[in-house]
Amino acid sequence: MNQSHSLFVNTPRNWSEYYGKISVFREYYLRVNDLSDILKPMITEQSEVLILGCGTSLLGFELSANVTQIDFCKPVIDHMQLKEQKSEYLHMDARALRFPDCTFNLVLVKALFEFQDDIQSICQIIIESHRVLTKNGILLVISQINEEFMSDSLDIVKWQKVKTLRTPVNNCCQNGKEERPDVQIFVCFK
Ligand SMILES: C[S@@+](CC[C@H](N)C(=O)[O-])C[C@H]1O[C@@H](n2cnc3c(N)ncnc32)[C@H](O)[C@@H]1O
Repeated sequence: MNQSHSLFVNTPRNWSEYYGKISVFREYYLRVNDLSDILKPMITEQSEVLILGCGTSLLGFELSANVTQIDFCKPVIDHMQLKEQKSEYLHMDARALRFPDCTFNLVLVKALFEFQDDIQSICQIIIESHRVLTKNGILLVISQINEEFMSDSLDIVKWQKVKTLRTPVNNCCQNGKEERPDVQIFVCFK
């Protein structure tokens, strides 16, 4: 969906190969410190937080809440569950979440939408995120996808309010040689 990612096909096997090669934790765009001002008012220790397409990000590890993390790449999930026992890691596709309606207070999506191969996948992820959020729950999207396109896609479901912020990228991305200085943050209130 994003030109700079267009040569990468979003399959569990490709992600497994990618993460297998780097053998370190890789945090896309922003670390928890960069997000703490935004995240702090959103969660308490009792909050149920779901992270979609977690990869080897350590964001969930650093949150004071009950964190569930999913990824459709099984080797990544197995690796992360061994390394980090604080979160529950589940092998699952973000387009078809196996959780009941209204389960989570916060759904966090970082560097996921821009890697989807089609608009249908993006819309399915938004619909599923909205479904599993509690009333007044928040979908937090951190992405380098085109801002207008993302706003239009988010409109597929009804949000009370959507706020958009832009912040400089403070960390690695898939291809470190590319100049991709900004990231958009969408805060969507159910
Ligand atoms: C660019 S990485 C981002 C990882 C992490 N969120 C971060 O910020 O560092 C994208 C991750 O999303 C996963 N992914 C892609 N499509 C998915 C889907 N439909 N369902 C679940 N995981 C998916 C990939 O396996 C990969 O681990």
